[in-house]
Amino acid sequence: MEIKEALTYDDVLLQPKKAIVTSRSEISTRSLLSKHIALETPIVSANMDTVTEAEMAMTMAREGGIGIIHRFMSIEEQVNQINKVKRSESIIIDKPFSLKQYNTVSDAKQLMALQGISGILVTDVNNKLIGIVSSRDVSFEEDNNLKLSEVMTEKEDLITALYGISLDDAKKLLHEYRIEKLPLIDDAGYIKGLITRRDILKSTLHPLASKDDRGRLRVGAAIGVKTGFIERAEALINAGTDILVLDIAHGHSEAGLRTVKELRVHFGNIEIMAGNIATAEAVEDFAKLEVDSLKVGIGPGTTCTTRIVTGCGVPQLTAIMECAKIAKDYDIPLVADGGIKVSGDITKALAAGASTVMIGGSFAGTQEAPGVTRIINGMKYKVCRGMASFDATQDRLKKTEENKNTCNTKTFDDIVPEGIEALVPFRGNVAELIKQFIGGLKSGISYCGANNIKSMQQNATFIKITTAGMTESRPHDVKMSY
Ligand code: XMP
Repeated sequence: MEIKEALTYDDVLLQPKKAIVTSRSEISTRSLLSKHIALETPIVSANMDTVTEAEMAMTMAREGGIGIIHRFMSIEEQVNQINKVKRSESIIIDKPFSLKQYNTVSDAKQLMALQGISGILVTDVNNKLIGIVSSRDVSFEEDNNLKLSEVMTEKEDLITALYGISLDDAKKLLHEYRIEKLPLIDDAGYIKGLITRRDILKSTLHPLASKDDRGRLRVGAAIGVKTGFIERAEALINAGTDILVLDIAHGHSEAGLRTVKELRVHFGNIEIMAGNIATAEAVEDFAKLEVDSLKVGIGPGTTCTTRIVTGCGVPQLTAIMECAKIAKDYDIPLVADGGIKVSGDITKALAAGASTVMIGGSFAGTQEAPGVTRIINGMKYKVCRGMASFDATQDRLKKTEENKNTCNTKTFDDIVPEGIEALVPFRGNVAELIKQFIGGLKSGISYCGANNIKSMQQNATFIKITTAGMTESRPHDVKMSY
């Protein structure tokens, strides 16, 4: 049998080429997460329970990437996580607060205080829009029993727009009439939404943010392949998830392929990322099922022990290159999942043919990660655990529907862990880390004589290095001062 050689990030470097840009600002890092979703920041936070819940996903999306909410919780909890992200920054508020014409000033004051809002739409008994009350109308009104119909701005004096108005046209109306709120109605006069000046201004604070076509932050959600995945997928789609991510260690299996088929039958065009895979054959099989994205990585993760426990896996750089050869024929973007330790690894993963990278361990120590914080000898750490570790598997069986047909508690004999639980140093805000990663990536693109990810992929020349070469690459022969 011929034994192939396989390499990973530390085995190679990218050969420098003549730079075509004079500053990092001329470089684009825009790339595809999946066939129909582009990201300005090609970084995805991993669907691990010590890495991505709503807080991480919101920051990831604001910084131009995306977070995938893990699945080790009930369907209801996972839907809640998606809702939190989707409601956090929405240009169009789908269900604006409203009161009836017979409600009182006191009702309006209470609702404003409770929800932290400054305006309430007013409807007639048939739920048609008839006016708006703002805090200016009620704050200093001493007669709390006055009906809202007596203090509101009436519909005749109200600027409204038909639902479906473009954001640019909405901005023009807000400016032209110097108004704070633009109610959206249908032809019959029923409320369909609300656009506010404040939400538009908020959205400009993060110019790279990943947003859906309704101006909401993008977010993905992981699902499994066992009982109940259709029910979970349906709930997540209804909550507005932008992509479903198949979360199984060995995606190239009957269960993995069947799951994609069933998702297509039930949900048609929903964006699907399948995985994890590490070979060209797996790409071929999933391409036939028209997946929108493929996650590459068997065993490279910080907390993975799959390669040690099973003896199987493919060093990550070779896995990406093998998959990329086929994936490009089908225009399927690849996510390089696992093993990213430093920004140079991101450059190498993308140069090798991935479109984005997924990061777990390096993000687990950040403020936004949901893992537990520990202080040891005065140093702050957070817990990072592999999702196939013993504890994570135990917890999953307790929390999800997967345990319906199994006994509640499995013993060590029943579980063969393929991951570990570990502590990682606290690393501050994830946004700062992403800025460092993207800064390094942009410089890497420049060193490759390119100005975007595509041209880097066309231009890149990898050179294989020795252990001595890697030793030389790191700081050496000095005493580190801190
Ligand atoms: P990093 O290196 O960024 O990798 O921490 C994150 C990826 O690791 C995978 N993962 C696991 N793989 N056993 C494994 O073999 C595990 O317990 C485990 N937990 C996570 C996963 O693909 C993740 O995105």
